[in-house]
Amino acid sequence: MRNIALIGFMGAGKSTVAELLAKKLGATLVETDMEVLRLSGFPSVNSIFDTEGEEYFRAVEQEAIREAVRRGDCVISCGGGVINSADNIKLLKGNAYIVFLHASFDAIKKRLKGTDTRPLFRQEEKATLLYAYRLPLYEKSADAVINTDDKKPEEIVRLILEKFRPTNVN
Ligand code: S3P
Repeated sequence: MRNIALIGFMGAGKSTVAELLAKKLGATLVETDMEVLRLSGFPSVNSIFDTEGEEYFRAVEQEAIREAVRRGDCVISCGGGVINSADNIKLLKGNAYIVFLHASFDAIKKRLKGTDTRPLFRQEEKATLLYAYRLPLYEKSADAVINTDDKKPEEIVRLILEKFRPTNVN
């Protein structure tokens, strides 16, 4: 099976959808954030940003993507900033079907309310600017776009499979 990569802003639902999708496809689930923790030995994304900084995080993140696309048969849930690097996009483009899970900023704000695991969502004003900056990058990188506002994860999975049409799914 060709890899599927889910991209989109923090809180777009990538992790939840990726887990369901991987189960349905019998594919390996790869969470780039989890892989970054494994490769770096840090306990959390916050601790990496706070002690090593974003640049270090991005370098390990790229290694995680490289490993995942090499493995094949994966559903890859990409951290929201993966599309910031042209090298990452190139790696994914050549090796995965890329699905952009779109969500409005309002929906994202609601979903992330009360969480503190995302260093780049600590200040709402900055996150709003980041969202606007990244939107065209997600769109440009995607093979398919799915709007996730008001949709349940199961419905999103169904829509992805309709577009992906793998030969090995019931
Ligand atoms: C980031 C998104 C996070 C995580 C890190 C940076 C970003 O992943 O990789 O906090 O730059 O948007 P999620 O999109 O899974 O929250």
